[in-house]
Amino acid sequence: MPKKIAILGSTGSIGVNTLDIVRNSKNRFKVSGLAAGGNIALLEKQIREFKPKYAALFDEKKTSLLKKRLGRLKVEIFSGIEGLIKVASIPDTKMVVSAIVGAAGLIPTFAALKCGKDIALANKETLVIAGELFMKHSRKKRVRIIPVDSEHSAIFQCINGTTNRKIKKIILTASGGPFLTYPAKQFEKITTRKALNHPNWNMGPKITIDSATLMNKGLEVIEAHWLFGIDENRIDVVIHPESIVHSMVEFIDTSIIAQMGLPDMRVPINYALNYPERVSTNLPTLNLTKTKTLTFSEPDYKKFPCLEYAFHALRIGRTMPAVLNAANEVAVQAFLSGSISFTGIPKIIKKLMRKHQPKKVMKISDIMQADLWARVEAKKLCER
Ligand SMILES: NC(=O)c1ccc[n+]([C@@H]2O[C@H](COP(=O)([O-])OP(=O)(O)OC[C@H]3O[C@@H](n4cnc5c(N)ncnc54)[C@H](OP(=O)(O)O)[C@@H]3O)[C@@H](O)[C@H]2O)c1
Repeated sequence: MPKKIAILGSTGSIGVNTLDIVRNSKNRFKVSGLAAGGNIALLEKQIREFKPKYAALFDEKKTSLLKKRLGRLKVEIFSGIEGLIKVASIPDTKMVVSAIVGAAGLIPTFAALKCGKDIALANKETLVIAGELFMKHSRKKRVRIIPVDSEHSAIFQCINGTTNRKIKKIILTASGGPFLTYPAKQFEKITTRKALNHPNWNMGPKITIDSATLMNKGLEVIEAHWLFGIDENRIDVVIHPESIVHSMVEFIDTSIIAQMGLPDMRVPINYALNYPERVSTNLPTLNLTKTKTLTFSEPDYKKFPCLEYAFHALRIGRTMPAVLNAANEVAVQAFLSGSISFTGIPKIIKKLMRKHQPKKVMKISDIMQADLWARVEAKKLCER
């Protein structure tokens, strides 16, 4: 019997790569549900090819057009946040791939968790803003969370069930993004076109900008903390421009285990979908004799302050990571639309983190409140 999976964010970079794995998986998987934001052309194409029973579009205004385009096709279409929750909760679905970008992924991913689905987690923002609650519920529900982020997939594979006490530290690798060797003086003039041109990975726009500011690595530090239960002082970040070593784990006996491969998101996606089995693929393989050199260096926290802010937010905890994340989402959007400069992104995050009075997180609404506050304040700063 094929494993039934639902994909939240099916029209994005991770969603499309996931469907590519499904397409080439010789009926190991059946797509039970697809959910997207507003790209009806691509969603329609995906529905026609993968024939899910259910689909959802967040943009309610476009739903009737999607229904019209699908005509008599046998698929139930839902809309809005309720629609996303429906797709996350389809009764016979075994696994939900969480690949919506940003904090918008939190509520539907939580819905999947509450229904006891295994979660292939790409939406790191869920763990950044609600890591403690999310992991507590996953233990209670005995839900398996299998990371899709290449670094966390690497760490997951290196740890391979070893107890936390035997782990000395986690070493997260970072490509360094397109501005690794740029002088800080030129950062003010960085254009969106240049920032969207990642040297190794082909990803959605938000994560590509996060990679350029190193905020992506900061968010990953927080994600790793919650996923693996490791304190921030046992998480190191190293710059590795070749993106071949996806991350490493150092054990108490000084052994370091690394996971390597070409930078291709289909590898960790395939691993997560098939976990705990390892299944062969036709993906291109790494030839180390062609790669020749692998280099590692310390990150420059002065040039890339977002990384430091993320460590700081993790240390403070409570609602601070939610504020870091929301301020970043608004600032990245403002940079993409041309209303602030590249260096404006860390400035806005810093201002909001200084202004925020962190509160204890007891429930999701505490996070949503902090998130909303930060979005309103960040927008005001961007407009200024
Ligand atoms: N791309 C990568 O290689 C990569 C690697 C590691 C981790 N991740 C993580 O995976 C997540 C997705 O990244 P991505 O690069 O795939 O992003 P992306 O290409 O921008 O795609 C985002 C997806 O989310 C959907 N979406 C956006 N807002 C939504 C909303 N309010 N409700 C429902 N759906 C919404 C989009 O739908 P429409 O396009 O239809 O509007 C699209 O399907 C992020 O959390 C990212 O950090 C990505």
